Amino acid sequence: MSKKPWNVGVIGCGFMGRAHSNAYRKAANFFDLPMQPVLQACCARTATDAAAFAERWGYASFETDWRRLVERKDIDAIDICTPNDTHREIALAAAAAGKAILCEKPLARDAAEGAVMVEAVERAKVANTVWYNYRRIPAVTLAKQLIDQGRLGKVFHYRAQFLQDWTISAELPQGGTGLWRLDKAVAGSGVTGDLLAHCIDTAMWLNGGIDTVTAMTETFVKERKHNLTGKVEKVTIDDACAFLARFQNGSLGLFESTRYARGHKALYTFEINGEHASIRWDLHDLHRLEWFDHKDESVVRGWRSIHVTDREMPYMSRWWVPGLQIGYEHSFVHQVADFVDGLAAGKATAPTFRDAQHTQHVCDAVLKSAGDRQWATVKRG
Ligand SMILES: NC(=O)c1ccc[n+]([C@@H]2O[C@H](COP(=O)([O-])OP(=O)(O)OC[C@H]3O[C@@H](n4cnc5c(N)ncnc54)[C@H](O)[C@@H]3O)[C@@H](O)[C@H]2O)c1
Repeated sequence: MSKKPWNVGVIGCGFMGRAHSNAYRKAANFFDLPMQPVLQACCARTATDAAAFAERWGYASFETDWRRLVERKDIDAIDICTPNDTHREIALAAAAAGKAILCEKPLARDAAEGAVMVEAVERAKVANTVWYNYRRIPAVTLAKQLIDQGRLGKVFHYRAQFLQDWTISAELPQGGTGLWRLDKAVAGSGVTGDLLAHCIDTAMWLNGGIDTVTAMTETFVKERKHNLTGKVEKVTIDDACAFLARFQNGSLGLFESTRYARGHKALYTFEINGEHASIRWDLHDLHRLEWFDHKDESVVRGWRSIHVTDREMPYMSRWWVPGLQIGYEHSFVHQVADFVDGLAAGKATAPTFRDAQHTQHVCDAVLKSAGDRQWATVKRG
């Protein structure tokens, strides 16, 4: 290996453990990275799971206690792919050990936890990022570039939805493996922290900060069997959440998320309406950006569907040839590539823990507003 190795330790071998392992393996094949990501160790709770994961993805070693992994001298970066209730403790230990940290979203269960994490990484001066990966889908990055070029003019409206349908059955238990998202003690919240956090991160990246929100939430199934206790227990997460927002730039926001939209598996969409142009994006068709430009001659004016595969489009010169698209997993490859470039250049890679903490504050304000049935002001810092 001619390049300097960058040894990664991944904690959590589930959905995101797989997505990130895939990204570390591919990033240096497609991007000219200053360092070579190395799958040095993975960590699961049992030796059987950890060994199987290490074998499948090509990790050099494995651990069953994340603390041991964090202490290891041969690990440069800790990647947190475990449920939300573990992020804080692992991040604090990793920061104290001087490791770079890549943490899954949401940063924490709430802003109070997030604040401690931001403080820890900034005090330790360790590189850090949070996997709000949708920023790095080329069509979404292109939307950012078009907005930053001023092509939309003044923005009036921002609309986002994230719709799923997997918790409709009242027979579905809560808690434990695979179902921790329904357990507030582990997840922190329901769709607000899980799905809307993505929408909020993208929205603030594209359209600036959010000042105030007014929200409503609902828990449609009030009780479910808890997998860990075996008892029927109250469900305390938000199954659905809708909120209005006022952005700092004067535009109005409308956000909705639910796991009760029959027929939708992961329908993340956003639309932005500006003075001169509008943009629309849809995760189910993620390589396309819909664009309407009022400056077009009226006889041909209309929504166009931009196939984001040309070489001059974000990230696309690294992949195939124009016309051939990429997918969901590539957003993680892009985040690895940007993070490794940032490390070598001594630059932060957004979203940092501090950036992600802004999203925590919006989530907290949304849940507060829903509880109080009042507008809530988003905290800063
Ligand atoms: N960026 C995204 O789009 C995205 C998508 C899905 C999940 N996530 C986030 O990623 C994180 C993990 O979610 P997931 O869907 O991969 O969950 P998952 O349930 O599929 O996997 C989590 C894994 O962590 C393991 N684990 C739990 N506690 C552990 C511990 N103490 N030590 C070692 N392993 C432990 C579990 O056994 C499980 O294998 C969550 O924070 C979630 O919000 C982000």
